[in-house]
Amino acid sequence: MHEFKYKGDDLYCEDVPVQKIACDTGTPFYLYSKKTLENHFAAFDTAFSSVKHITCYSVKANSSLAVLKIFASLGAGVDVVSGGEIFRALRAGISPGKIVYSGVGKSSTEIEYALKSEILMFNVESSQELDLIDCVAGKSGKKARIALRINPDIDPKTHPYISTGLNKNKFGVRIEDALNEYKRAVQKKQIDVTGVACHIGSQLTDVTPFVDALRKVKEFTGELSSHGIHLKYMDMGGGLGITYGDEMPPDPSDYAGAIIKELGNHGCTLILEPGRVIAGNAGILVSTVLYKKKSGAKNFIIVDAAMNDLVRPSLYEAYHEIKPVRKKQGPHIAADIVGPICESGDFLARQRDVPDFMPGDCIAVMSAGAYGFTMSSNYNSRPRVPEVLVDGQRYFVIRKRETYDDLISNEIIPEHI
Ligand code: LLP
Repeated sequence: MHEFKYKGDDLYCEDVPVQKIACDTGTPFYLYSKKTLENHFAAFDTAFSSVKHITCYSVKANSSLAVLKIFASLGAGVDVVSGGEIFRALRAGISPGKIVYSGVGKSSTEIEYALKSEILMFNVESSQELDLIDCVAGKSGKKARIALRINPDIDPKTHPYISTGLNKNKFGVRIEDALNEYKRAVQKKQIDVTGVACHIGSQLTDVTPFVDALRKVKEFTGELSSHGIHLKYMDMGGGLGITYGDEMPPDPSDYAGAIIKELGNHGCTLILEPGRVIAGNAGILVSTVLYKKKSGAKNFIIVDAAMNDLVRPSLYEAYHEIKPVRKKQGPHIAADIVGPICESGDFLARQRDVPDFMPGDCIAVMSAGAYGFTMSSNYNSRPRVPEVLVDGQRYFVIRKRETYDDLISNEIIPEHI
């Protein structure tokens, strides 16, 4: 359940009319509901309360400091994939002992930073990475806690760009090779083998692939035990899907129920890395209609937000519902909602049945709280949009709109030019 609802003709976020924020802040902007973020986190976390677990929110979904601080105060851990995400998590007050670090391309600088920060564990994705972590830990005088990320070769049946658990994907170590890697890892002086990790993909709308992956990981940990390698943590990643349009994903309690059932009385502490299911429906992108035009039979509604602000429709042909910020009477039209960027791939929605919007009308692009702002860019020298957080009857700008000066602040023109 989320907190973006109509009261009369006006779309509200919690107790604040979205139109009021649009008038005060200007558009486009991202808008998040604190209550929704808290409720989604709590629903997920309590669904696993019958087993030892850590909910490590996946920072890449929405890495705003204010958002991370909300989760920190709920006792969350985090899943990170870069030094920058570790920095953000620590700044927001996440406990380092609840940070897990995934990703296929950790650099030695990032590894050193993670060791210095005393994170919970590295989810190691290759033999060479294991060797590098051992080496950097040696130089830093630290012992690195690691899990090996296993690729279980399971089809998550999601968009190919966000499917990660098949052998053809770049992630993790093949399950066939994993035992040898663990044997190598336990020999290393600077390595503390503490867990196993797995993440098969994102926006999954069925529990079966999760359960199949867990079964494979469990079988594998049994094999490890028979070789005298005993683990403390089993990290099953993230990936639970949400409703953008007509998807009907399992709710967190059904998902947790299926995982807990398959887990049985396995002694490990379970780690989960949900991102989208927490943040996705806790945020929207608000934009204003600039122009309307017709090209033959086709209607275009040109708005002030574009693919640089929300790339999901262009990149994955993802569906995001478009709603009026103020309901309009009268007939609907079929239209493409497009942005000002100079690419035909710049659209937020295509062939959509929408109210007959006029210039000046505000629209809400729904379900944009995850992988919205975090994937935004300055393409076409467009300043990044602000992020606003509603808390009950109040709202707060949690990231300012970038200025033209921000756009060039890191640029240097060599003197001789
Ligand atoms: N853990 C790992 C290791 C991951 O790679 C991811 C997402 C997650 C957890 C969180 O997954 P979630 O619960 O949010 O599904 N940009 C794409 C999604 C990319 C997901 C990448 N990894 C999108 O906009 O759909």
